[in-house]
Amino acid sequence: MLKHRDSFHGSDLEKIEQIYGIRKEDIVSFSANVNPLGVSSLLRRELPSHLDVISSYPDRDYTLLRQAIAKYCRTDAGNILVGNGSTELITLFIKTVGPRKAMIIGPTYSEYERELSLAGGVSEYFRLKEEDGFALDTDALIESLDSSVDMLIMCNPNNPTSTAARRKDVQKILEACRAYGIFVMIDETYIEFAENYDELDSTPLIAEYGNLCLLRGFSKFFAAPGLRVGYAMCGNAGMMRDIASVKDPWTVSSVAEEAARIMLTDEEYIKATKDLIFSERKRVTDTLCAIPGLIVYAPVANFVLSRITKENADADILFDKAIKSCMMIRNCSTFPFLDSKYFRICFMNPADNDRLLAVIRDVMS
Ligand SMILES: Cc1ncc(COP(=O)(O)O)c(C=O)c1O
Repeated sequence: MLKHRDSFHGSDLEKIEQIYGIRKEDIVSFSANVNPLGVSSLLRRELPSHLDVISSYPDRDYTLLRQAIAKYCRTDAGNILVGNGSTELITLFIKTVGPRKAMIIGPTYSEYERELSLAGGVSEYFRLKEEDGFALDTDALIESLDSSVDMLIMCNPNNPTSTAARRKDVQKILEACRAYGIFVMIDETYIEFAENYDELDSTPLIAEYGNLCLLRGFSKFFAAPGLRVGYAMCGNAGMMRDIASVKDPWTVSSVAEEAARIMLTDEEYIKATKDLIFSERKRVTDTLCAIPGLIVYAPVANFVLSRITKENADADILFDKAIKSCMMIRNCSTFPFLDSKYFRICFMNPADNDRLLAVIRDVMS
């Protein structure tokens, strides 16, 4: 069995191909958190007739795309900035805020800490407690803040715990942060998968809180990580101007701009995605909960975190067994506060989910 300290990221299919000799086309990735429906059929039909846009530079202000996103998110186009995936926007906001000290709510996505250290800042974690099912204790978080912190970063719903804070709690956090002069970046990449979207969605807060920016993208919900389109929503005109002044022009290609606009209008795809994820989330989670030796943390997003309590099993063993059947899970040992007893899987098509559940059952038996 291959022992790897360095867990594979959801996008590391080439590495897997080399190490395990499995063709990447044959791997079902339970690790990338990407919608299993694949590219929207409206996009497949419509995009070919838009290919001539490649011969022109994109609109520098991405006016039409920003208007389409504004309608989709029920906000104003003036609050929106598009980027090359949410990754470009994470970098830009961190660079522009330039925090000396940032607080990250974790365990969470590693890119925030990496970008903060590249920008020369120090990061500290506010730890989500396992005994609370990794739910955020808002009051304890607020208690831990003071004016030495310049930036707070949270992922909502959070990767990898699949837990989420409600807008009313986010508002309390924003109030406290405003008093301390803390800028808050909330990564809502997975929010459209949540059944209680209306309770979680923080877009109604951006008009009132100039210390808030929200990040989202097309990679996960619209199954388009290769397209590289993300967006930020922020009501702070000064901050948006500062970012626009350092941002490279045209980081979203003209064809990506067209594709993103088309995807947002594919109502059938949006509904089919929600129907599939809502029902598979319940079915897979219920099945996992019934497997002895597993603790399952209630998921809000399109993935679920579990801990193996069985003595002679761990996520390395599960990874190995699953990849030999061409299924890739996420060993969570590289996340802060987690170890090789934790693994994360996203919800794929029912037949694939059943195949993976059989492997998990087998490892746990
Ligand atoms: C929480 C979170 N934010 C951002 C990203 C990157 O998104 P994008 O493809 O939009 O850059 C990921 C990718 O795994 C993620 O999990």
